Amino acid sequence: MHVHRFERLWLVGALTLIVLFIGTVTYGAVGTGYGMVDDTGGEVDPTNVTASDNFREPGVYHGDEPTHYDVYVESKQFLFVPGTNDPIRVPANSTVTFHVTSTDVMHGFEVVGTNINTMAVPGQVATVTVEFDEPDQYGLVCNEYCGSGHHTMEGSLEVVPRAQFNESEVN
Ligand code: CUA
Repeated sequence: MHVHRFERLWLVGALTLIVLFIGTVTYGAVGTGYGMVDDTGGEVDPTNVTASDNFREPGVYHGDEPTHYDVYVESKQFLFVPGTNDPIRVPANSTVTFHVTSTDVMHGFEVVGTNINTMAVPGQVATVTVEFDEPDQYGLVCNEYCGSGHHTMEGSLEVVPRAQFNESEVN
């Protein structure tokens, strides 16, 4: 069968595009480090989150290693605890695991300008582990519509130089 040269060009072009499209979707899904909200953080009773073994009083805790910290964050209408009334403070050159849950409705927990972004689902604990190399200031926003005060639900995260970090703030 004879296929005309232009028809062959179209064919190759169309197939290349399909491969490119599938490639970009695949890269976006797995190549950039996104993860789905899963159950690795475990479940909690949303009406009494600290009663559960996998959630603690909200705040910053020492982790497994000297430079590892665990941050427990409660989201509720319309604040992050800690984060909104008091900034979350962690030292630079550290690895931080955020444990995020909600005590009422679905919220979002996004650290602006980073790829830290998770849903805060009542009854579930989402965990995100990140490294902070440099001192910096970040905003926190809720990016899931959670009610009339959704647009006011924000907070801050301060990554402070290690020398200025006050270990007494750690639980
Ligand atoms: Cu919390 Cu929107």
